[in-house]
Amino acid sequence: MRILSIESSCDETSAAVVELVNNKIVVHSNVTATSLAMHAKTGGIIPENAAREQVKYIIPVIKEALEKYYQVTNLLTNQLTLHDIDAIAVTYGPGFIGSLLVGVETAKTLSFVFNKPLIPVNHLLAHLFANFISPELNAKRYQLNASSFPFIGLIVSGGHTDLLYFESVNKYEWLGGTKDDAAGEALDKIGRLLGLSYPAGPEIEERAKLFSSSLSSKERAGVRFHSPVIGSDDFDFSFSGLKSEVMRFVQANLTVNREPITKNSLINEICFAVQRAVIDVLVKKTLAAAEKYGVPTILLGGGVSANQTLMEQLRSNVKGHMSHVNIFSPEQKYCTDNAAMIGAYALLNPKEKPWEKVFATPDLYFS
Ligand code: KG4
Ligand code: ZN
Repeated sequence: MRILSIESSCDETSAAVVELVNNKIVVHSNVTATSLAMHAKTGGIIPENAAREQVKYIIPVIKEALEKYYQVTNLLTNQLTLHDIDAIAVTYGPGFIGSLLVGVETAKTLSFVFNKPLIPVNHLLAHLFANFISPELNAKRYQLNASSFPFIGLIVSGGHTDLLYFESVNKYEWLGGTKDDAAGEALDKIGRLLGLSYPAGPEIEERAKLFSSSLSSKERAGVRFHSPVIGSDDFDFSFSGLKSEVMRFVQANLTVNREPITKNSLINEICFAVQRAVIDVLVKKTLAAAEKYGVPTILLGGGVSANQTLMEQLRSNVKGHMSHVNIFSPEQKYCTDNAAMIGAYALLNPKEKPWEKVFATPDLYFS
């Protein structure tokens, strides 16, 4: 089965052609246009601006994804045709209404005009199933398959932080999630306080590494922030208190006469402490869930799962009776929003719906 997939839930506009070959999810093309540079200027996403950009990008991105696929298979075409495509998959939620509408209405139109089945996909679940995308040739990655169930899934993105227990591709239980800010959202807001680039996750990771390589481990205990709700006996998270704690620290230590000042070494140390506070609670609750449900596998997904320190901490903390637990995150390029993961989930769970019954659903959660 070959699928054209479309993703437009937030600020990215992405299209991909993916196929199930001998039970492997092969990505033929994955094209993403981003309006990140525009959002960097405002220090965050203004949904209406994102959607206006997506209106411009959507058809060129789909066309490029198809052309890349047809070139691969020597079927060059100048027209938008869906030759060789068996179905269309699209993110229908959660996300910004304007952004979702762009992708959903385009997919519905293509489904109607070219008479192809339509598969609506939950963006959050797709983040986890990005782990099932087949590794590129020569890549030293383990291929996940039907025997990878059950698993604990941790979705950590700019909009969500959720823990789930998966029995099969469409049978799962939500265990807990954030009560306020998502992990990525907290990192981005703290990055803004510190004058970092947007989105701030990658720079916070980079600066944390610079700090930890600059000192011996004994000397690292200087700045410390609390890991929110780390002691609670549940699978919930909360990150807005961390943001307030950092704000108070910045006001006390990085301002003179209320004017912000730049002290690079202190900013690096704050990044280290912030990242540690976020990672500590993610690791503790994820491993507690894996232990409670006795699973052999933990899968991460979402932009924050690109964080190498998070993966290292998880892996180094599965010890003793849990040392058999394998932990995966998607290939770096499939951690952040992309259409290939939407196609991957649709290939594994090809639930078609008549195009008239598919609607952009901004507050879609787990159902
Ligand atoms: O999944 P994603 O692309 O978009 C949403 O669906 O939200 O995630 C974006 C988030 C941003 O908050 C960004 O700061 C964070 O992922 N992020 C990272 C890293 N790369 C991206 N956070 C920590 N470390 C990273 N290396
Ligand atoms: Zn996402």
